[in-house]
Amino acid sequence: MTMTDSVVRPEDAAARKDYWENVHTGKDVDGVSWWQSVPELSLGLVDKAGVAKDAGIIDVGAGWSTLVDHLVELGYTDLTAVDLSATALQTIRDRIGPAGDAVVLDVADVLDLQRGRTYALWHDRAVFHFLIDEEERDDYRASLARCLEPGGWLVVATFGPDGPTTCSGLPIVRYTHEELAAEFPDFDLVDTAGEDHLTPWGTSQQFTAVLLRHRG
Ligand SMILES: C[S@@+](CC[C@H](N)C(=O)[O-])C[C@H]1O[C@@H](n2cnc3c(N)ncnc32)[C@H](O)[C@@H]1O
Repeated sequence: MTMTDSVVRPEDAAARKDYWENVHTGKDVDGVSWWQSVPELSLGLVDKAGVAKDAGIIDVGAGWSTLVDHLVELGYTDLTAVDLSATALQTIRDRIGPAGDAVVLDVADVLDLQRGRTYALWHDRAVFHFLIDEEERDDYRASLARCLEPGGWLVVATFGPDGPTTCSGLPIVRYTHEELAAEFPDFDLVDTAGEDHLTPWGTSQQFTAVLLRHRG
């Protein structure tokens, strides 16, 4: 266990699950800094990837993001959202309604993700940046390798070099576009984007995002 200013950093699967379940329990969706009603940065990069509407898309660490809601509205039909928090995923289920019946919601750890299938696009907003140890990033990349089809697309967004040094009370790694792309050596950098995300309480958080493509 590593002490930060305010919380004990969870360093095994059980502690991570407890931590993130607690983050989501008893809060409104806009009670967390990362909440946004329309994930424009993510939607823009998914659109740039140009995958077919029936291609598999997975959002890891989805929380209660509205990404899958918007993708359902746009006509994407093979959507999966993964998170450690069952409470967060239930919020998506309750919100999305019958149109989203086909969206698969899976309580699972992205550091050991076994889906038994592959996807054309993997999306992550504000999860990879929590992985401050190389070993954790190796586990993440192993999950990605298992779950992404050859030639698949990767959208990753983290805090940028001028962003906060913690997220949800935990230490994070801040990335430039180049540094983030370099974390995925089997991929080509296709596009970059960024935003100054306004938290529900009006402070600004710089995000870096990249669109990468697996070399196949
Ligand atoms: C900062 S939030 C971002 C949520 C969402 N991606 C968004 O942009 O609104 C991080 C999310 O990742 C989830 N999470 C953290 N570590 C995880 C892990 N190892 N496996 C799966 N989900 C994880 C948390 O429960 C939380 O919902």
